[in-house]
Amino acid sequence: MDITPEINEKIQKLQQKFEAMGQDMASYLDGLLYADFLTYWDYIHLDTLLSLQSPKTPFPDEEIFIMYHQITELYFKLSLHECKQISEKENLTVKFFTARVKRINAYFNALTTSFEVMVDGMEKEQFLKFRMSLLPASGFQSGQYRMIEICATDFLRLVDKSKREELKDAPIASQFEHIYWKFGATELASGKQTLTLKQFIQKYADQFLALAIERKNSNFSALYHQLKGEGEDVSELEEELRKLDLFVNVEWPLSHYKSAVRYLEKDPTDIAATGGTNWQKYLPPRFQKRIFYPFLWTEEQMEEWGKSWVLSVLKTLRK
Ligand code: HEM
Repeated sequence: MDITPEINEKIQKLQQKFEAMGQDMASYLDGLLYADFLTYWDYIHLDTLLSLQSPKTPFPDEEIFIMYHQITELYFKLSLHECKQISEKENLTVKFFTARVKRINAYFNALTTSFEVMVDGMEKEQFLKFRMSLLPASGFQSGQYRMIEICATDFLRLVDKSKREELKDAPIASQFEHIYWKFGATELASGKQTLTLKQFIQKYADQFLALAIERKNSNFSALYHQLKGEGEDVSELEEELRKLDLFVNVEWPLSHYKSAVRYLEKDPTDIAATGGTNWQKYLPPRFQKRIFYPFLWTEEQMEEWGKSWVLSVLKTLRK
């Protein structure tokens, strides 16, 4: 093969690159000579990925349940990847911020439109049996889901609404004591915290607090106000933030709630009698009214949060 001027130029550039690091180019060329070609399966660790499903029971539908949770956690990871890019970007621009929130919205769109995999994709008889072998584990214990919330809004917005006014100037650690989800996964009969909730707090409390403190001035709300204050045109960003608010606080919770209804719906007295949780009062978005960006909604829209007007807005989200 001829050493063309182009190849010669590349070799010289490589030589400069290695010299700058005090490295010997010839040794690296040896490395290239002996190295295997990269394969698809090694690159994405496919064998490892496909070995991560370990059902606890012989029911075939349990694998669907495991895989869909794993898929969801990967989408949550993608969302957090974008959250980090936004919050840690030097000289953040509205354009960059908007484009990244758009990506997160695409992930949540995929998640909400695929929830059928849970709602209709398993036999109820199998589900009701295999879930007994998984207790007290629950998707409620998804740490990434809570981290997305912490990155998306001011921490005070995540405080139970009855305590928000009182705690508005309190340190984040005191606000954390009243974070809304501490009122979920509680026993319907006694109101006590379930083991599910206790385990979750024990594993993640420190991490959540550290993230909340780190994001105090770099969560999406804070960054939005900063850019707006600098006189930037934030109209497109507002549109994407509104979508995010609806995806995370209404649409995903509604799709998820449909699964809970399909598999677990019972009379509340029967739930209490079996030591069940308060999920019927906790999960529907219209009860909790979790809203990241109240300044982007009208009073009426917030009043009706999680009700029919939202559904009509949801239809336009996917345009
Ligand atoms: C058949 C499917 C599912 C059922 C029946 C179900 C049921 C429930 C119930 C009853 C709760 C309330 C907590 C409690 O009372 O124990 C809950 C919470 C939760 N689940 Fe699921 N779930 C399902 C699928 C999923 C999937 C696929 C995920 C994805 C990670 C997930 C993530 C969550 C999260 C993040 C919460 C907390 C929601 C909040 O705080 O508002 N769940 N789930």
